[in-house]
Amino acid sequence: MASRSWAIFADRSLLRSHLEPSGSRRAFNTLLKSTRSRSTKISKRKFHFEALLAEKDALLFTPGPLTTSPTVKQAALHDWGSRDKKMIDLIQSVRHELVSISEVSHDEYTSVLMQGSGTFGVESVITSCVPRGGKILVCVNGSYGARAKQIAMTAGIEAEHLEWKEDEIVDSAAVDQFLAAHPDVTTVLCVHSETTSGVVNPVEEVGQVCKKHGKTFIVDAMSSFGGIPLDMNKGGVDYLVSSSNKCLQGIPGFSFAVARKSAISKTKGWARSVSLDLHSQMAGLDKNGQFRFTPPCHSIIAFRQALDEFNKEGGVQARHQRYLENKRICIERMNKVGFQTYLKPEFAGPIITSFRYPASENWDFEDFYRRLSERDFLIYPGKVSNADCFRIGHIGHIFPSDTSTLMDAVEEISVEMKLFGSEN
Ligand SMILES: Cc1ncc(COP(=O)(O)O)c(C=O)c1O
Repeated sequence: MASRSWAIFADRSLLRSHLEPSGSRRAFNTLLKSTRSRSTKISKRKFHFEALLAEKDALLFTPGPLTTSPTVKQAALHDWGSRDKKMIDLIQSVRHELVSISEVSHDEYTSVLMQGSGTFGVESVITSCVPRGGKILVCVNGSYGARAKQIAMTAGIEAEHLEWKEDEIVDSAAVDQFLAAHPDVTTVLCVHSETTSGVVNPVEEVGQVCKKHGKTFIVDAMSSFGGIPLDMNKGGVDYLVSSSNKCLQGIPGFSFAVARKSAISKTKGWARSVSLDLHSQMAGLDKNGQFRFTPPCHSIIAFRQALDEFNKEGGVQARHQRYLENKRICIERMNKVGFQTYLKPEFAGPIITSFRYPASENWDFEDFYRRLSERDFLIYPGKVSNADCFRIGHIGHIFPSDTSTLMDAVEEISVEMKLFGSEN
């Protein structure tokens, strides 16, 4: 049975470890500070358009923003009028496509775009779709679950959480028991791919439990939508949240919710915020196809191109396979060098992999990161609170050949840094 806490609303202590930066995150911030004076000099010299254009971008092995295709970037090079028919038609086509990608019925579901990063989308759904006087149960096995609870509490929404360790998955039986004991819960939120560690939660099972108890079910599918298949019908998902710059491989600028019409239509007046009011946003888009406030036009145009490329690649199945292959190459070769993964293989998803710091006295993440970045590869610091880790992402416009090239660099650097003795 997963370790869990039925800690209630006022108890913030369990969440603290998720909400404060981990050791490796702190070290990474120190690294960035130490390189800041250097990069300021570079930026003063280089922030001229031609120099910028000539600059080669590093490949981003991160959870987002991600490396995007040249054609997605190019698509953003347009100024379109936000109230012009061309833009309105484009927004409409993107909304339609998001429902199609979700493989749910257009009669039953709609999609709503919301300005801002993924957190704005999660905040919009939580603060708009939990009824006044309602209570949300958040399943927490990483920072993003913890953040969802923090969002609810900040908005004055009564919130409880069940907690699992960061290397465990959410247990639907525990959710079932909790809901049986707490009939006043109206809404449940579970993160699909918990990017903190890379673990993938069984959201379809959790959703079935929610349906059994008649609860509204929200899935934070930020880092998984379009990259890991999810059966929304089977999971009874009422709201799915993701953003433009994760597995659909657009540029940052907006988040979106795929929402069950029968659920969202009841939420008029429930929002605790004007700008993040999901029902009003939907009503505005439905009425005249326009955002209520300035839309991120450039990123929506780029997103249309990203969706075309997603379909051309073969949709979620093809993208899932590519990410799995990136992950396979990465883990196989990292293991060969001597690095160990943080998660048990059966819990690990294809989005991002956490690797434990090696025991070597020569290990220094800042140094390792710097050597990789000098070779034009950017990896990511760790985020779990109970182990020193770093992360390598598998999503974005990166391919098995890119992952292999990154691994060549990791092998070289491991020898340079004398991390694992003579065997590598
Ligand atoms: C699962 C999950 N939820 C929420 C977020 C927050 O998204 P953003 O950083 O775009 O605000 C992220 C970001 O990586 C995420 O992975």
